Amino acid sequence: MTIIIDGKKIASDLCERLSQKINILKKKHNILPCLKVILVGGNPASQVYVRNKQKKAESIGISSETIVLPDNISTDELITKVNELNVDPSVHGILVQLPLPNHINASRVINAVNVEKDVDGFHDENVGRLVKGERNCLIPCTPRGSLYLIKSIEENLSGKNAVVIGRSNIVGKPMFHLLLQENCTVTILHSQSRDLVEYCSKADIVVAAVGKPNFVQKDWIKKSAIVIDVGINSVNVGERTKLTGDVDFEEVKEKVKAITPVPGGVGPMTIAFLMVNTVIAACLQKKVDASGFVS
Ligand code: GUN
Repeated sequence: MTIIIDGKKIASDLCERLSQKINILKKKHNILPCLKVILVGGNPASQVYVRNKQKKAESIGISSETIVLPDNISTDELITKVNELNVDPSVHGILVQLPLPNHINASRVINAVNVEKDVDGFHDENVGRLVKGERNCLIPCTPRGSLYLIKSIEENLSGKNAVVIGRSNIVGKPMFHLLLQENCTVTILHSQSRDLVEYCSKADIVVAAVGKPNFVQKDWIKKSAIVIDVGINSVNVGERTKLTGDVDFEEVKEKVKAITPVPGGVGPMTIAFLMVNTVIAACLQKKVDASGFVS
């Protein structure tokens, strides 16, 4: 029987445990973890994501505010806002929702965020620490959540063949490094890759993050595989739109060991790890031991 990995339940359990830690932080250390989310412009998908992040934060005792800025804001003006949050000691986590409008230099903005407040883990210094396998970094939430789901099925990944489809900075590349740290043999496939099927058919773990609905097919994947679907694609079904992953779920689920659904798989884990990162960031800044927050 295939295991349908219940990301909603796993994220909810994780957040429940995290809320107990937050209570201890408040009572014992007088720390109220605080997350500020910056949303530039009115991208409808980003508005939904940001609302979900804020709702979850509030529900587990993290103070949270979304700062909405006009989409004609300049890079310098946006960095000025980031700097205000950088120097505010009551703010522990700063997230600038992506994508930013094209005229903004996203790299400059991302690197303007204080490294210890970078709850996305996108700052060059946090990326560098992740690549070097250092422990003291904030790790991008979607790949971190995906790894957590994989490990809910199989704790020891040593020696496994893992394939990551997609090479984005947000998911594909950090996912590669996280799996490498777990001693997997990792291959990244992308739009120019040849022999996709050959690589996928040898994989014990497949992480799909390409942004193409139903891209990964049943006959690519072996029976014992764990399949993690990071895709969130809006597809038209008659008059309505429906969320679909990058994996042909209905077909692939008949075959594999475990698979995540869309929605209800990776999505809730991204938010859960944003909460984890906010608490870790608060602990880092207030010099409180953060170990044991995720186990
Ligand atoms: N847009 C899509 N995913 C993400 C994410 O993980 N962080 C931010 N800041 N923006 C995103």
